[in-house]
Amino acid sequence: MTAPVAGDQPGIRFWWHGAQRSVVGVASTMTVLEWLRTEARAVGTKEGCAEGDCGACLVMLAELDADAEQGVALRPINSCIHLLAMIDGKAIVTVEDLHGASGGLHPVQQAMVDCHASQCGFCTPGFVMALFGLYESRTDAPSRAATCQALAGNLCRCTGYRPIVAAAAQAFERPRHRFDRAPLRTALQAMAARAALDYRAGAAAGGGRFEAPATLAALAQTLLAAPAARIVAGATDIGLWITKQARPLPHLVHLDRVPELHTLELQQGQLVIGAAVSHSRAWPVLCRHVPALSDLARRFAAPPVCNAGTLGGNVANGSPIGDGMPPLLALDARLRLQRGGQVRELALADFYLGYQRTALAPGEFLRELVVPLPGPATRFACYKVSKRYDQDISALCAAFRVDFADGVITAARVAFGGMAATPQRAPACEAALLGGHLDAATLDAARRALLTDFSPLSDLRASAAYRRVVAGRLLERWWHALAGGGSPDALDAVEAGA
Ligand SMILES: Cc1cc2nc3c(=O)[nH]c(=O)nc-3n(C[C@H](O)[C@H](O)[C@H](O)COP(=O)(O)OP(=O)(O)OC[C@H]3O[C@@H](n4cnc5c(N)ncnc54)[C@H](O)[C@@H]3O)c2cc1C
Ligand code: FES
Ligand code: FES
Repeated sequence: MTAPVAGDQPGIRFWWHGAQRSVVGVASTMTVLEWLRTEARAVGTKEGCAEGDCGACLVMLAELDADAEQGVALRPINSCIHLLAMIDGKAIVTVEDLHGASGGLHPVQQAMVDCHASQCGFCTPGFVMALFGLYESRTDAPSRAATCQALAGNLCRCTGYRPIVAAAAQAFERPRHRFDRAPLRTALQAMAARAALDYRAGAAAGGGRFEAPATLAALAQTLLAAPAARIVAGATDIGLWITKQARPLPHLVHLDRVPELHTLELQQGQLVIGAAVSHSRAWPVLCRHVPALSDLARRFAAPPVCNAGTLGGNVANGSPIGDGMPPLLALDARLRLQRGGQVRELALADFYLGYQRTALAPGEFLRELVVPLPGPATRFACYKVSKRYDQDISALCAAFRVDFADGVITAARVAFGGMAATPQRAPACEAALLGGHLDAATLDAARRALLTDFSPLSDLRASAAYRRVVAGRLLERWWHALAGGGSPDALDAVEAGA
């Protein structure tokens, strides 16, 4: 059989609602939601915010995964910011696909009805899909915390969460009805042979181009030949440029098909995280090695955003309020950058040159992150401050790390998001900690030094004054936690001197 080549099938090819679709003539930036509602006329999936925040648009993305049930993983994503071309070779499951054992309502739908969990109804398909994802992901009934986590990306504007949470529990009390993934597996296997996508929209659709190279070499060559092309990983930032800013994106290059960019390996005490590894994959592994990251990981966006978005995209996007960078800076993470056949390594601390400016050269891309794992002498902590607990961008994010030898601080890293135009370390504070002991004098010096490190801005998330105060309080909080196992006198002195 002849090996398939780019363009062997017309258009964007994926599986949905029992059939393979081959879509041509749409804009290269068309979202999955837009296709569902305007082309397929499947209007069960709703648009609430068009920015990944409300969950009304949730669909399940199906991909081959040997470890998943029937060899197919089902993960919720926000279809409003997921580009149709990104699902080429994959399958989606929408609310139209749900049914019970005898064709009626699915157990989660029936539970939503029985618990009176739908009021406006507009957000209901999204809640149903989030609960369906939870239902499919486990065999036993979820805890309340697990249910809340699964629903963290869904908003009910009339605050009807209590019956929705009750519906989650009730669905598990009914006779089990698992979704049959076998047809998806067959379809996905058939599509897997496709080598690459080079989708070009016609003039009437804006003429945009979407390329998805299948090898690292092809990706490097594509970017070298077209340095102005925009790299797209999970599109959880880029999606909003399309839906909210109507930014022209004439040439997109997708990373997802390059196997090397999906590696997540422990190599000689360092985690190497490929640029296309999703947050959902990266954070659990990071947390296993650095448990102090768990709270931040739990509060990083919500599962549908984390299923699509990547840690690499977070770092490359370089938002001053991105959450991945403060802990990575504190852990002395490095970046492997590739341009053509050349690979160079750069400390993350040297990557940001200014507001949304990075050290990436034209045609260069982030290939992987290298995260040295802390040893037993290291104390690390990380804090996120945001207006809402779930699915909110930080006003401030702080990471602290010190290494001790014989009670003396031998290495110190303090990094913040939300305090400057880029995520940044606090050099004066670090210098004040270095050589100090876990006592009030060192804290006092570090706190004073921190005030000189940043001149934060006021914006809708927090005022400059608030940021300065909270940064100091987070430092104190960490110090108190560190001293928790030490002398109470030291803590008292810290409080008295505050
Ligand atoms: C509802 C919602 C909640 C969110 N919550 C949070 C949050 O709590 N904390 C947080 O930090 N962020 C949050 N985000 C932002 C976003 O999810 C993250 O920044 C995410 O990590 C971006 O990754 P991505 O793969 O989606 O990047 P994309 O959107 O695909 O790309 C982002 C940018 O990075 C560039 N890029 C991507 N990969 C590479 C690469 N390998 N090499 C070079 N350039 C590259 C792209 O060209 C683009 O400029 C949220 C977003 C949404 C929509
Ligand atoms: S429409 Fe709100 S998350 Fe997609
Ligand atoms: S039921 Fe739709 S917003 Fe509450």
